[in-house]
Amino acid sequence: MAGLLTGKHVVLGVTGSIACYKALDLASKLVQAGALVDTIMSYGATQFVTPLAFRSITHRAVVTDSFDADSEYSVEHVALAQQADVVVVAPATVHCIAKLALGLADDPLTTTIVAAKAPLVVAPAMDGNMYDHPATQVNLATLKDRGVVIAGPGTGRLASGLTGVGRLLETPELLGYITYAMGKDGDLAGRTVVVSAGGTMEPIDPVRVITNHSSGKMGYALAEAARDRGANVVLVTAPTNLLDPALVKVVQVRTAEQMGEAVRLHAKDADALIMAAAVADYRPAVEAKQKIKKNDDDLNIRLAKTEDILKTVKGDFVRVGFAAESENLIENSKAKVGGKNLDLIAANDITAEGSGFGSDTNKVTLIGRDLSVEELPLLTKYEVGNRILDRVKTLFRD
Ligand code: PMT
Repeated sequence: MAGLLTGKHVVLGVTGSIACYKALDLASKLVQAGALVDTIMSYGATQFVTPLAFRSITHRAVVTDSFDADSEYSVEHVALAQQADVVVVAPATVHCIAKLALGLADDPLTTTIVAAKAPLVVAPAMDGNMYDHPATQVNLATLKDRGVVIAGPGTGRLASGLTGVGRLLETPELLGYITYAMGKDGDLAGRTVVVSAGGTMEPIDPVRVITNHSSGKMGYALAEAARDRGANVVLVTAPTNLLDPALVKVVQVRTAEQMGEAVRLHAKDADALIMAAAVADYRPAVEAKQKIKKNDDDLNIRLAKTEDILKTVKGDFVRVGFAAESENLIENSKAKVGGKNLDLIAANDITAEGSGFGSDTNKVTLIGRDLSVEELPLLTKYEVGNRILDRVKTLFRD
């Protein structure tokens, strides 16, 4: 995700809500991802947090007044609007949403939005009754029809103490909506990409499983990269500790058998299937109904082979596999290209520093159906995802 935001101009609109404190975290994460963040605050927002807080995080001027004679911009709203790659309003109040739906422009934020051509993300935050109000619903629908990306709101504890719909989404989700908005008309728009992730869990008894070290990071990064280029993404995932990526259809499974069923179902509509999951090759032949007791010195568990998902899934789509190898990387991976009928395999050297299971980076070599070899440097898993998608794009069947 970082790559997409590097050097990009983000206009961050902040309107008056207790959720303003969360916008500070969003600003911070955007800056960490390399974005240039210009904050515009409504008068209400300045009553909750200070412009100084945003200025300290973004290291850029914060706009609060359309008529500031000391402003560094000649015509502020036009200057910010012109350079914006994306405009984000977080939190967006009921009042701000109503103004945007009507196209009103009576403060620095709304004038900038009316003048901007960049994608707009609106993240509502309000009391549940205010969100449910017919006027709010109509206004949000109007914005959606106009192509505005509405991010949330989430459900949970509200400032009133009540529980319901109206919470500002958390920063990772907001970042997902922002990168989605920036890339929704990208080179994968209209394509459906199915990605698998995580390590399957094969039950031995009610408390024990056979699994592996996959964290799911590679598959999740691939799903996010595909989403950020406009694809519809289905992520079939074994259990992980990761948050569901925003705007991705997430299908939770546990075993290799369940992953196979889900992949076969969703691959029917796919333009590409990318199997980043570490799928168990063997499972206990029998799952004990009760917890196995500790009696003997050793315990034998008979294993049965699982079905190979890539080998058996049918359909005319681009097929990509990963090969986690600890020796003979290229040779072993090449054998899997033919063996699993693949268009591309990402040969993954799990012994290399910063590569393979659990890391945020990965070192892979891409091997095509013709056994051509492209060695990639150590990259973030998101960047690896993009390099794989660059290749997938050239392989679509239509
Ligand atoms: O999840 P992370 O912590 O980010 O780690 C990333 C990763 C190391 C798990 C990932 O990058 C990776 O290498 N995934 C493939 C691991 C693996 O199972 O490789 P394999 O050589 O056993 O399988 C080859 C391919 O066949 C894989 O695409 C696999 O998903 C698929 N397969 C395997 C077994 C099976 N029964 N059905 C399959 O479709």
